[in-house]
Amino acid sequence: MAGELAPLAQAFFAANPELSLQALGSGVHVPSLDLAPAGIPVTHLLAEHNAELARQYLTLNQLAFGGIGVPRWVLSDLYLLPGAIGLLRCPARLLKAPARERLLLADEELAIGAACYVAPSLTPGLFVGVSLFSFLPGRGASSWVKTLTLGMVRAKRLRGVTQWDNPAVRVHTRLGPMRLVGRVPGGHDYDERTFVYETDLGDEARVAQAMARGEEQAPATRIPVTDLVALGSLLDRAEAGARLELVPPGQDAGHVLVRELHG
Ligand SMILES: CC(C)(COP(=O)(O)OP(=O)(O)OC[C@H]1O[C@@H](n2cnc3c(N)ncnc32)[C@H](O)[C@@H]1OP(=O)(O)O)[C@@H](O)C(=O)NCCC(=O)NCCS
Repeated sequence: MAGELAPLAQAFFAANPELSLQALGSGVHVPSLDLAPAGIPVTHLLAEHNAELARQYLTLNQLAFGGIGVPRWVLSDLYLLPGAIGLLRCPARLLKAPARERLLLADEELAIGAACYVAPSLTPGLFVGVSLFSFLPGRGASSWVKTLTLGMVRAKRLRGVTQWDNPAVRVHTRLGPMRLVGRVPGGHDYDERTFVYETDLGDEARVAQAMARGEEQAPATRIPVTDLVALGSLLDRAEAGARLELVPPGQDAGHVLVRELHG
């Protein structure tokens, strides 16, 4: 990715000059990464030599996700050994309160402000969204760390897991429509409101348009995020082959915005 997204990414960092893009992962993968996604330089930090940063990531992940935060061995075996975590780093004073208090850093020390990990899969170009969090609200930090991390790993498609009522739906639709895939293979702690979606990243101009919320509002059906019967039947239909998607901005005033594609 280096065309249409580049000016938007530059504008984001110009508006947020204290943020920088970094990656934490195993050295063996460095040659496979694009270390200038959308033209933004990434400083790659070797996980082998940055245990303290990995510990900070673990703390923030567990704070962001509570009971389903990443266990330490999963961080090592399934994040840092096979891939690289994308990080937006910033002075600790910018973090929102619970994170700042938990990390015990001095105001000017560099902290992780937002992070995204997408796991490689058996299907070439397809990555799986595993963990996205931000402690820098109100800046679009999570949509940028997600977009740039996907660029860094050269992803063409993303499959992710989220909840109808999670504010993250608005973040995910910054990369384009979220096609409904179905329920989570193997189940989920929040099964009744959780689903798998797929985002196509093959067309950079389309991703850039979604990042800028530039797309024309497509006509969509509004379904309350609490109507789990209606939302469950959408998943039944998606699993049976119907082409259903959440259209940007994905969520609005307690509803998800759904469109069916025909033909
Ligand atoms: C979801 C999360 C990543 C968003 O972080 P962020 O990028 O700093 O959030 P922002 O303040 O920039 O808001 C991003 C979008 O969500 C919306 N949003 C944020 N908080 C919201 C809330 N409480 N209710 C409704 N919408 C909300 C914003 O309006 C914005 O929408 P826009 O892109 O259309 O303008 C962050 O809240 C988080 O870390 N949550 C816990 C972990 C999690 O659930 N991760 C997602 C797993 S799928």
